[in-house]
Amino acid sequence: MTATDLLVRDAMAAEAVPQPRPMRVAIVGMGNVGASFAYALLLSGLAAEIVLIDANRAKAEGEAMDLNHAVPFSHPTRLWAGDLSDCAGAVVTVLAAGANQKPGETRLELVKKNAAIWRQIVPELARHNPNGILLIATNPVDVLTYAAWKLSGLPAAHVIGSGTILDTARFRYLLSQHFGVDARSVHAFIIGEHGDSEVPVWSSANIAGMRLPEFCRAQAMSYDAEAMRQIFLQTRDAAYRIIERKGATYYAVAAGLMRITQAILRNQKTVLSVSSVIREFHGLDDVCFSLPTVVDRGGVEDVLRLELDDSEVSKLRESAELLRKTIQSLDLS
Ligand SMILES: NC(=O)c1ccc[n+]([C@@H]2O[C@H](COP(=O)([O-])OP(=O)(O)OC[C@H]3O[C@@H](n4cnc5c(N)ncnc54)[C@H](O)[C@@H]3O)[C@@H](O)[C@H]2O)c1
Repeated sequence: MTATDLLVRDAMAAEAVPQPRPMRVAIVGMGNVGASFAYALLLSGLAAEIVLIDANRAKAEGEAMDLNHAVPFSHPTRLWAGDLSDCAGAVVTVLAAGANQKPGETRLELVKKNAAIWRQIVPELARHNPNGILLIATNPVDVLTYAAWKLSGLPAAHVIGSGTILDTARFRYLLSQHFGVDARSVHAFIIGEHGDSEVPVWSSANIAGMRLPEFCRAQAMSYDAEAMRQIFLQTRDAAYRIIERKGATYYAVAAGLMRITQAILRNQKTVLSVSSVIREFHGLDDVCFSLPTVVDRGGVEDVLRLELDDSEVSKLRESAELLRKTIQSLDLS
């Protein structure tokens, strides 16, 4: 065999070996949230391919051009403006398309506008990508997570809403400021609706395994119940305060979407407060809201049955009931 024959033989052998699919993430909706997430994802180097989709094609193209010019400063990534058929093979498709809250508008008031968009895009997404995971950010996120599950026909484990990942982050941040420790060392969850009826789980909130009153005793601090109440109100109402000032919120939710995407792509089994279809929890069933959830390459691996006190259970029931009524108003069956 000549040297050329050997080269040809090696090239043919290499071609015959099946190449792993490049890790693709698709983003539908390239507004504030979609673009912030795309930027964070590009800088993270987690995805080999990022496809940007928007009803306003020029917007997606402009974002793709701008982001591509950051590639030499980040990671080799194929990034382009595409259409829904480019979601084929994506491990995760993030949905951030639709209207956002206007000043004073609740997340639940957005529902009609965004459900209409869902009816257009979700069945098509599922047709192009029957095996991928849908990660919903658009509000009202719990209702639209349920709608995405129904309209897509995908397994429930493959449909995740960002849910209270952001509220939990806000809560941990504010508690960390109060107690003077790193936010990552504060373990506390907001559950239920991502919205006005969300529920803080004070009964298990802890630092280093110490419940908050116990932590205060150990630190010779007084446990200030009124300060705790204010921290929850600031957590719950943070979006309103930010929207009054800058018109929208996007960086922190983009970071939350990144955390969920990382847990999926890297099969991390991370416990995150995200929204998914809930089965049999304190009599609540067939509705989407957030509970601490194990997230891995298969999406929702497990929804953890968090211990709650009676008042937390009753607030969670109210929250879930509100979501159920909104879901019913959409007539998704
Ligand atoms: N889950 C959370 O924690 C959280 C936090 C902040 C914002 N949000 C929500 O995220 C959503 C997006 O917010 P934003 O500030 O990026 O809004 P935005 O108005 O900046 O962007 C929305 C984008 O969606 C596009 N779009 C509309 N219809 C479409 C369709 N049929 N197909 C493809 N693209 C379409 C628009 O062209 C626009 O570019 C809102 O619903 C907002 O309330 C959620």
